[in-house]
Amino acid sequence: MNHKTALLVFVFFTVLSCTNKPDTNQNVANAENGLQKVLPQLDLLLHDAYQAEWIPRTVEENGETRFVGKNFDWTEGFFPGTLWYVYASTNETKYKEAAEYFQNKFIEHRHLTTNHDLGFVFNDSFGAGYQLTGNEEYKQVLIDAGNSLIQRFNSTVGCIKSWDTERGWQAKRGWQFPVIIDNMMNLEMLFELSALTGDDKYKEVAISHANTTLKNHFRADNSSYHVVDYNPETGAVNVKHTAQGFAHESAWARGQAWGLYGFTVCYRYTRDANYLNQAKKIAEFYLRHQNLPTDLVPYWDFNAPQIPNEPRDASAAAIVASALIELDEYTEEDYLTPATEILKSLSSDAYLAETGTNNHFILKHSVGSIPHGAEIDKPLNYADYYYVEALTRLK
Ligand code: GLY
Repeated sequence: MNHKTALLVFVFFTVLSCTNKPDTNQNVANAENGLQKVLPQLDLLLHDAYQAEWIPRTVEENGETRFVGKNFDWTEGFFPGTLWYVYASTNETKYKEAAEYFQNKFIEHRHLTTNHDLGFVFNDSFGAGYQLTGNEEYKQVLIDAGNSLIQRFNSTVGCIKSWDTERGWQAKRGWQFPVIIDNMMNLEMLFELSALTGDDKYKEVAISHANTTLKNHFRADNSSYHVVDYNPETGAVNVKHTAQGFAHESAWARGQAWGLYGFTVCYRYTRDANYLNQAKKIAEFYLRHQNLPTDLVPYWDFNAPQIPNEPRDASAAAIVASALIELDEYTEEDYLTPATEILKSLSSDAYLAETGTNNHFILKHSVGSIPHGAEIDKPLNYADYYYVEALTRLK
């Protein structure tokens, strides 16, 4: 071995021992296997969706599949988004046609200014479609959705308003300008829009929102509040509450997942170390929590009172797995191992539905909102979406 080769070998092993990242070939094989396994079930769900002509969201208490998309529903983008991922993996045109058919069901919702979830909805569907096909009409849909979304931005607060408070259950809480941690998930579309159009106005809103959330949403232990309510005239924080968690001071599992995913995405677009640090801190909170079960699929709230007799939330685990796979790319730490462990759990009989069962959804055992008595221990289309996304990312 000449000294140049020796140096290369030294560098190779030094890098390996620093990063200590797991073997990727096995991960790729597992991911490919996992994706192949979900196709028969997804085909059955697709058949149901075509029959109903709407988008499957979950299973009702009476056992029937709940379909959405006619009126705005924050989950309507996930089913076409799942189909786009499967199209990307298989190149089968039936998935592309289905994604287009179902996303067109809600295309008019791009003009809504009454909801903050436009980023979720349109980025996962038309955004994914634009990435895969380059269809300029999809880009215009994204631009329209982005222009609607940024109308909810208040520069005094520095955030996009999550919920309107004039009607519904939100009207009963006394909030003025509620911002939920979930709202971090709407920023990806805004960053993407600035990259696509060259207009910085979208990413300026996203950065302001992320910075304000960084300042006000996190506790000393790096868990996050669900809702921070602001005074829209002064920008002062009114209260820090929960809506879907067990208590105002508890750590709602999916909220932690949204924060982890959201700040990882912010780092992707900005390379701002503050965002990366926050994502790492959230990952540590999640992975080291004493109430995290050994299969790494959390209870619906880390502080739920009857643990271990509380429902698990597979949707939170799927979001976390997908986020960790991306976070792993940006760090020396090994986040791929916990991500693959989560995926292994979700791919086991405990969570992955047998083909033909579970109203044809892919994953079992998620929680929508226990305080609202909604979707408790049910399949959810976004659990399926992030599971398929995580497998696709791993591959
Ligand atoms: N964004 C709503 C939820 O996570 O339930």
